[in-house]
Amino acid sequence: MRKKTGIIAAFFIGGLMALMPQYGLYSQTAFIGNFKSIKSSQTGVLIKAGNAGIQIMYYSPSVIRIRIGKEFSDVDFSYAVVAKPEAGGFKMIENKETISLSTDSLKLEIQKNPIRIQIKNSKGRLLSEEYSPFGTGWQGEEITCYRRLFADEKFIGLGEKTGNLNRRDNKYEMWNSDVPAYLVTADPLYVSIPFFMGIHDSLTYGIFLDNSSRTKFDFAASTDNLFSRFSVAEGDLNYYFFGASTIAGILSDYTWLTGRMSLPPYWSLGFQQCRWSYYPDTEVLDVARQFRARKIPCDMIYLDIDYMDAYKIFTWNPKGFANPKALISELNGMGFHVATIVDPGIKIEPGYFAYEEGVKNSYFAKFPGGANYIGSVWPGRCHFPDFTNEKVRQWWGASFKTLVEPGVEGFWNDMNEPSAWGQNIPDMVKFDFDGHGASMKQAHNVYGLNMSRATYEGTKKLLNGRRPFVLTRAAYAGIQRYSAVWTGDNVASDEHMMLSARMVNSMGLSGLSFVGPDMGGFIESPSKELFVRWLSLGVYTPFFRNHAAKGTLRKEPWSLGEGVEEASVKLISQRYRLLPYLYSAFYTSTQSGLPVARSLAINYTNDEKIWWWKYQEEYLFGDNLLVAPASCTQNMARVYLPEGGWYRLTSGEFYPGSQEVNVEAPLDDLPVFVRASGILPMQSVIQNTSEKPSDTLDLHVYAGQRPSTFVYYEDDGLSYNYEQGAYCKRILQYNPQSKSVVIGKAEGTFVSKFSKVRLLMHAFPSLQSLNLNGSTVAVNKTGTDIQWAVFTLEPGNLSIQYH
Ligand code: GLC
Repeated sequence: MRKKTGIIAAFFIGGLMALMPQYGLYSQTAFIGNFKSIKSSQTGVLIKAGNAGIQIMYYSPSVIRIRIGKEFSDVDFSYAVVAKPEAGGFKMIENKETISLSTDSLKLEIQKNPIRIQIKNSKGRLLSEEYSPFGTGWQGEEITCYRRLFADEKFIGLGEKTGNLNRRDNKYEMWNSDVPAYLVTADPLYVSIPFFMGIHDSLTYGIFLDNSSRTKFDFAASTDNLFSRFSVAEGDLNYYFFGASTIAGILSDYTWLTGRMSLPPYWSLGFQQCRWSYYPDTEVLDVARQFRARKIPCDMIYLDIDYMDAYKIFTWNPKGFANPKALISELNGMGFHVATIVDPGIKIEPGYFAYEEGVKNSYFAKFPGGANYIGSVWPGRCHFPDFTNEKVRQWWGASFKTLVEPGVEGFWNDMNEPSAWGQNIPDMVKFDFDGHGASMKQAHNVYGLNMSRATYEGTKKLLNGRRPFVLTRAAYAGIQRYSAVWTGDNVASDEHMMLSARMVNSMGLSGLSFVGPDMGGFIESPSKELFVRWLSLGVYTPFFRNHAAKGTLRKEPWSLGEGVEEASVKLISQRYRLLPYLYSAFYTSTQSGLPVARSLAINYTNDEKIWWWKYQEEYLFGDNLLVAPASCTQNMARVYLPEGGWYRLTSGEFYPGSQEVNVEAPLDDLPVFVRASGILPMQSVIQNTSEKPSDTLDLHVYAGQRPSTFVYYEDDGLSYNYEQGAYCKRILQYNPQSKSVVIGKAEGTFVSKFSKVRLLMHAFPSLQSLNLNGSTVAVNKTGTDIQWAVFTLEPGNLSIQYH
């Protein structure tokens, strides 16, 4: 009898310990446990298990949300997600052992004892599941989800991260960090995008872990290939599962969930010149004049921190920038748009309006007890606006009037990890979190997102219908709705240049299109060779800015010595020729979330070669260009060309696809290829985007065996009138079977800046004539490979036959 009681007691205590994982000196791991009950709601189900609850919600046939927590408050809040769950999307079947929830394209199977979640596609193939021995478990407040690892599984994404395209065998952390001169292996950096995609057995899936606390991802770094895992430091394990059957489909769903970018100002796609700092105003003007005199196209010039009075945000330095309005109007007159840096730290200085207003209205992040947190940055001792408070965002946004009034149109958000000297703001610092309250633990990773949001919304209002250009260093998922992102304080080295290509591509795999590094490297000075090579890569990078740290050698295109200027004219002019193509690629991003710089993992997911280390930097720039980054010490590059056929852009030379080739790679001629059957709209060189190109749009068509389509898009590039239909969109089609090129009718009310089109047919050796609606047009020849003719661009359909 006594023995029995002892056994019962042991069971009882054991059970209690399982329920109270913190029992004892140090935390033990507790797992979800067995099924207890299920309750249906409009949008899904709530399952109670031994140690936790699981909420499963329907968003779309291919997007499901799973939330695992000890208890759920009624507050369901995210800075990243804009879509809402929908009612009635699941078909549920429950039996003794399992619960199954199906949508039109996914099937969730939940084993009851113990709880394990498995997700299959509609054909019954397993996409992803919890690792069966563990499932999901707690260590103190930290929740970890252990997931089955498939033998051939690859992982991509996580935004701004160093490392390989395939993230398997590595671990990553999300904690926005100011890391000047970061190592090419450093982690974490400035941006947190806790979204990755898995690829195995020719299947794809995605997981977005929407929790802004410190999250961690481990793709079998040290588990002998047993499992992968991800975890949250505190709060729910709240993730969205994406089950589309292609990477492009998952990206479309992810950007549907977290929002897509709107069209940036056209001028921000041009070349951008920056330095820490051009000072005083006469130097800014001098740099701008040099660009014009030397005929190096450029659209933007930046003012770094020295334009401010003692680094006080929203002020102008009365010494160096006494008349900002006159300065900017002169720059505008030369076709330059001006961007200024803004840092979040507000200098503690009685009398300074931003400080006074912030203190009076309680706009700053606080210690428990109510004192404003103090940290030091450029201006010295500072308070930090609580951007997770709507009132603060409004105030911040409206404060830009001191910059917008004199003519600033670009807003460069820096130091917003947030960064304070010492880089260790206490976790206890308090934030409003839009009424829900949070400590630094949750607010840290969304600080930059909310600063950029406040900047975007405020300046958009102040600019009265014109598009602001917003740039940020720190960010969280969803940042594409507000801002472009640059990759922080990189270094002038080949390794950093190659890394920048991987980072830009990875950010593209995370919903961000408008991204790029400091071209040429921020810290240290590039060699002439590195500068030219990096410039040639910059032409094919969405965000194209030349920036340099204080103390480095001058880096304007004419400052680096012989040969660099000529190369710069040639390369930057090429960027301007490509603008019609590039703007159309940005338009695609606004519609489908497909990035401008596309890792080959998007289009060639199941081609093993694209994963090889030596080819992992390659990417598609828009639909039809393939860019193969090469270091500045290579005059010859080994390139992998995926399936299809490819033409070297500069020589027209043809290469069949699915092969590795050695190609010449002079410094100013990066290996860039056009897809066979590709269509490339280009224009004449302009010195800046306020200049009109010639009235003729060049439409390059490259011979190929497959029909192809290109969506051409144009609008005024400045306003939001496109939202009311003021755009010009045409579907361009090439069909080798019917031997035709069709320029679809112009949709929208915007009148194109091009009144003619020059159709340039590449590699059509037997082409004799071009016919428009039955009448023959004279064909001209350029070299041996290009035949062309000019047509008037009517608003209607132009159907051109070639013979
Ligand atoms: C930070 C920025 C850098 C800027 C500098 C001075 O290091 O990342 O781009 O030039 O601050 O403002």
